[in-house]
Amino acid sequence: MSKYEQFIEDNLKAFDTTLIDFLKIPSISAQPEHSSDMRTACEFLKSYLSKLGLEPRIYETEGHPILYAEYLKASDKPTALIYGHYDVQPVDPLDLWDSPPFEPVIKDGNIFARGSADDKGQLMVHVHAIEAYLKNGGEIPINLKLIFEGEEEIASEHLDGFLESNKDMLKCDLAIISDTAQFGRDMPALTYGLRGIAACEVKVTGPNRDLHSGSYGGAVANPVNILCSMVSRLHDEKRQIQLDGFYDDVAPIEDWEKEEFARLPFDEDGYKKNLGVGALLGEEGFSTLERKWARPTLDVNGIYGGYMEKGQKTIIPSWAGCKITMRLVPNMDPIKACDQLEAYLKKIAPPSVTVEVEKFGGAKAAIVSKDNPIMGAAEHALEYGFGKRPFYIREGGSIPIVNVFKELLGVDTILFGLCQPDCNAHSPNEFFGLDDFHRGIKSVVVLYEELSKMKV
Ligand code: BES
Ligand code: MN
Ligand code: MN
Repeated sequence: MSKYEQFIEDNLKAFDTTLIDFLKIPSISAQPEHSSDMRTACEFLKSYLSKLGLEPRIYETEGHPILYAEYLKASDKPTALIYGHYDVQPVDPLDLWDSPPFEPVIKDGNIFARGSADDKGQLMVHVHAIEAYLKNGGEIPINLKLIFEGEEEIASEHLDGFLESNKDMLKCDLAIISDTAQFGRDMPALTYGLRGIAACEVKVTGPNRDLHSGSYGGAVANPVNILCSMVSRLHDEKRQIQLDGFYDDVAPIEDWEKEEFARLPFDEDGYKKNLGVGALLGEEGFSTLERKWARPTLDVNGIYGGYMEKGQKTIIPSWAGCKITMRLVPNMDPIKACDQLEAYLKKIAPPSVTVEVEKFGGAKAAIVSKDNPIMGAAEHALEYGFGKRPFYIREGGSIPIVNVFKELLGVDTILFGLCQPDCNAHSPNEFFGLDDFHRGIKSVVVLYEELSKMKV
């Protein structure tokens, strides 16, 4: 065991305590009432990194602050950009949590709290690996540039600007992100693909005010009814998305990849059981893993309109709305997808309503070549930490910045994911396994060693 690993072993309790303190900060980026908590979380990281002897700086943005720090003492060695996000998702529905989301508890070896897996726990893995070197008179074997942002869960709105204006400072050879999952328990994984995302909000307007549904019912369009019927026409019975041209740019799943997905030990029954559903549903002609990793989707995230309070109110509502996101695969463009959604909804809308689509754009999908030597380094590191060779997988979620790293900085990203696939990210009772937290820290130490062997 190296002295670094010994240090980690000796300090696991302290690391757990630090994570618990970090998780107590309700840094929900989406909710304006938490903006001071966002700063507290950023300051928490700043002060921790300062104690390690780094000189972290807070960069203000129009939104939440970005924390940046660097370690550049490994001359002639690769430089890795390490990215994580200190913001978390909202906690509702609160009543479904077994313990309050910002009062972390350890149960059965897991730490339960909002942000434990996504992404505070995974972010701290990197901080503690750095700590292991810096507190032991050691020199980190590669150069590091750390970016911890507070807007990942709201589409990283201000990060692009930061990257663009600091392109020289951020020059690097690769990026590393721990913000994805393993394939399962004791099944470490390297993720080589993420889906992109495109987001829109739709408003359907009918009469200029809410109307008595007795006096007017039958004569006037009901925007809630109409919106529902429009939503039902977004997919056909084969679960294919009906927007004109939607599949034009979709990169097909290649045969070798279909074969590899099929070889993965995916437990479909366990998956259904975990979700409490009797059957799955998706695009005809594709397996579950293909559907969720490598095919585009369109989902209504929320739908609203009309009277939603207690009791009855007999009205024809004046308007209805919904929020939609589409998951994109390689070669699809988020702006194009939003335009296609708008065109389709306007095409199918009856003349009795007007449709407005607010288009937020999004992020492109990302793919890392498995032949890139950084993947070999990551594979060794995970094998060391977890005692098993990692599976190569894709993920259906999105980390908007991965594609930006590629396009702006020209680098690939190691997606060094450490949480469990059923960790309840974005759901009630989110958790991170302490053993995954601990093994992750040890793996990252090895990852740096492995990367230092690479020529730059
Ligand atoms: N950590 C996730 C990304 C992720 C999700 C990776 C599932 C692997 C599996 C990230 O924090 C996230 O939730 N991203 C958002 C991005 C969106 C808000 C632009 C997502 O995927 O919805
Ligand atoms: Mn995340
Ligand atoms: Mn997330």
